[in-house]
Amino acid sequence: MRNPLSKVVVDIQPSGIRKFFDIVSEMKDAISLGVGEPDFDTPWHIREEGIYSLEKGRTFYTSNAGLKELKLEICSYLKRRINLIYDPDHETIVTIGGSEAIDIALRAMLDPGDEVLIPQPSYVSYLPCVTLAGGKPVIIELKAENQFRLTKEEVLDAITDKTKVLIMPFPNNPTGAIMEYDDLADIAKIVEEKDIFVISDEIYSELTYGRKHVSIAELDGMKDRTILINGFSKSYAMTGWRLGYAVGPKEIIEQMVKIHQFAIMCAPTTSQYAAIEALRNGDPDVEMMRDAYDQRRRYLVHALREMGLECFEPYGAFYVFPCIKNLGMTSDEFATALLREEKVAVVPGTAFGNCGEGFLRISYAYSIENLKIAIERMERFVKKTKR
Ligand SMILES: Cc1ncc(COP(=O)(O)O)c(C=O)c1O
Repeated sequence: MRNPLSKVVVDIQPSGIRKFFDIVSEMKDAISLGVGEPDFDTPWHIREEGIYSLEKGRTFYTSNAGLKELKLEICSYLKRRINLIYDPDHETIVTIGGSEAIDIALRAMLDPGDEVLIPQPSYVSYLPCVTLAGGKPVIIELKAENQFRLTKEEVLDAITDKTKVLIMPFPNNPTGAIMEYDDLADIAKIVEEKDIFVISDEIYSELTYGRKHVSIAELDGMKDRTILINGFSKSYAMTGWRLGYAVGPKEIIEQMVKIHQFAIMCAPTTSQYAAIEALRNGDPDVEMMRDAYDQRRRYLVHALREMGLECFEPYGAFYVFPCIKNLGMTSDEFATALLREEKVAVVPGTAFGNCGEGFLRISYAYSIENLKIAIERMERFVKKTKR
């Protein structure tokens, strides 16, 4: 029989995050600080709206790009938060999470051989999605000494005549780094000069601490060059509802809708109704969750530093990214031994790119009680290791 598989697909590495969590799920008393998923339930009024839509029999496909009512809410949210005006009819698409938006944005924009700049450490899907879209991933290694922000020098070093897209993964998973206005201004200038485009993954835009989220699309000339991706999973604790969106230039969104139309048809109808409620009345919930994350963030950074681990202060998302280089172990060795000896699961930094070596991703989307137990165990482990 012929090999039924695509070589391109077979060559793609599976996500390095899942491996640990399959072990954790079978380990008694293990604490996982691994998964990037809010520990909060979706706020009740949002769930209720989903239930109500089912009671009303709203169980049909919506239009391909999403319910008009939802697209209007998305546009009014973006106007309110970042003062950008998008056309709900031509510049907005509702997707299956930010995940689908990343995938179809790349597929809509890339031809074989087009290069895509991917700053790492970053979310695991960018690289495989670029490859699957026929593009060539070009990795930019972000540096701890720059607080894992992207610099203009790094972009200039990586850019070639074949570069078409720059992925902007901020607020960042796994480092928690954000980009502020001045950082973005440097990058925007290059994007314009070199005539490239941006896919800005702003899924954590509501989760910044003491710093305001700035979208690169807000900068002069950038709206016409940026596909802005966001969603409901992180800010409204709606991971399982699978809902996200993208806004951007009409020509690109139109092509994204075409792919979405054939591959997906439309995002889940129940989730779309629930999302309207989230955008209309969800601000206080977001604020409550943000405050809780912030408390946990401050607790963790302090505790990790007390343990003797270098830990830069993350201003976004819900992860800390401590450095373990002084312990003489690789990230994978540390994470494996910590799980075996103390039953605490964290993710090796290398799951987010080779330059994550020497770091761990610890998620604080877990209750403070769990974090405290995990930190006690980790402290014991670090003390043992240092001896
Ligand atoms: C940076 C980033 N982008 C996108 C996603 C995808 O999220 P979703 O598809 O649930 O919207 C995630 C999920 O972990 C993420 O961390």
